[in-house]
Amino acid sequence: MYAIGPAGGQPFRDRHFGPVFMDRPDPMPDTRAPDTHTAPPADTQPSLAIELRGLTKTYKASGKAPAKLALKGIDLAIPRGSVYGLLGPNGAGKSTMINILAGLVTKSGGTAKIWGIDIDQDPRAARAAIGVVPQELNMDPFFTPRELLDLQAGLYGVPKRERQTERLLEAVGLKDKANAYARTLSGGMRRRLMVAKAMVHTPPVLVLDEPTAGVDVELRQSLWAHVRELNRAGTTVVLTTHYLEEAQELCDSIAIVNHGQVVACDSTDRLLRTLDRKDLVAVVDQDLTEVPATLAGFEVTLKGRQLTVQYPPSQVKVGEVLNAIAAAGLTIVDLSTKESDLEDIFLQLTRAPAAVDGPR
Ligand SMILES: Nc1ncnc2c1ncn2[C@@H]1O[C@H](COP(=O)(O)OP(=O)(O)OP(=O)(O)O)[C@@H](O)[C@H]1O
Ligand SMILES: [Mg+2]
Repeated sequence: MYAIGPAGGQPFRDRHFGPVFMDRPDPMPDTRAPDTHTAPPADTQPSLAIELRGLTKTYKASGKAPAKLALKGIDLAIPRGSVYGLLGPNGAGKSTMINILAGLVTKSGGTAKIWGIDIDQDPRAARAAIGVVPQELNMDPFFTPRELLDLQAGLYGVPKRERQTERLLEAVGLKDKANAYARTLSGGMRRRLMVAKAMVHTPPVLVLDEPTAGVDVELRQSLWAHVRELNRAGTTVVLTTHYLEEAQELCDSIAIVNHGQVVACDSTDRLLRTLDRKDLVAVVDQDLTEVPATLAGFEVTLKGRQLTVQYPPSQVKVGEVLNAIAAAGLTIVDLSTKESDLEDIFLQLTRAPAAVDGPR
């Protein structure tokens, strides 16, 4: 697989090309000539790839649908070079946030900077610094993947000799479909084509809104391998996913969004430690009808011969739990432990109902 993107942490070209999103509802291409200039030195690269301050969005009422306060003042700082996960239940506001960055949705308030560029002050430059794969896929069904990538590169003003169409096709596993009509591609293939399309102008920030929804297991793995490779080459990657295991494995930092607010935001490791909960599951040699008195200090659930003991690993050593089981005269015949995972944290943080504070 090829690495797409600047090698060895070289600065990204600061292309100020027209932000032409073929996926936009209004398909008017921006045909202005690109205003290119020389690349900034590495030390002028921003420390934050994306910076949101007090970002709000209210979708106006339309027809019978009332106005909806989708973002309630989002503050988010995404460091350059990270793989950053945006998680949250359906309707939390993730796509709204991403679509504001892509220029597909206008924000109601607050500020957003991409690669240090304010989207209000220089929208063209800001959008040239980002490649977005929107959640809703739509592409011209009568173009082939090769044509679509070439066209997109042309719209971004990438000179022919610098285009990476073939490498991109290979990277997303669509080389053998390069000349097939897009309408004949499967859902997963279309999504991969969109990923390639978002990268034609080698943006320093790549945002993927549910890139693996509907992508089969093997191709999901290869897509992630490619994302990792891009990241190693210097691209900051922001992604949303409902596969929490995937986020846990891939993202170095995670923000959890719920009802238009960031409810948690930390490195994945620290986030995983916040619950401070571990489960020890022991199968013993006798049926149990009640929790042994020696385990009174723990939260225990019983199921036949199986005891599940919940304990906070920062305060209790696993040996103490085992001693308490032994002190009850029980012999352990099987044993396993389960650390709290992202799913536990996610559920804990997103179960809370929305506060009633304005339009819903
Ligand atoms: N164009 C729109 N007009 C009105 N309301 C909208 C519009 N787009 C989104 N919303 C509302 O804004 C809220 C946030 O939606 P958004 O699509 O950002 O959520 P999400 O976190 O991406 O969810 P999902 O995980 O389902 O993709 C939802 O209540 C949604 O109904
Ligand atoms: Mg969404």
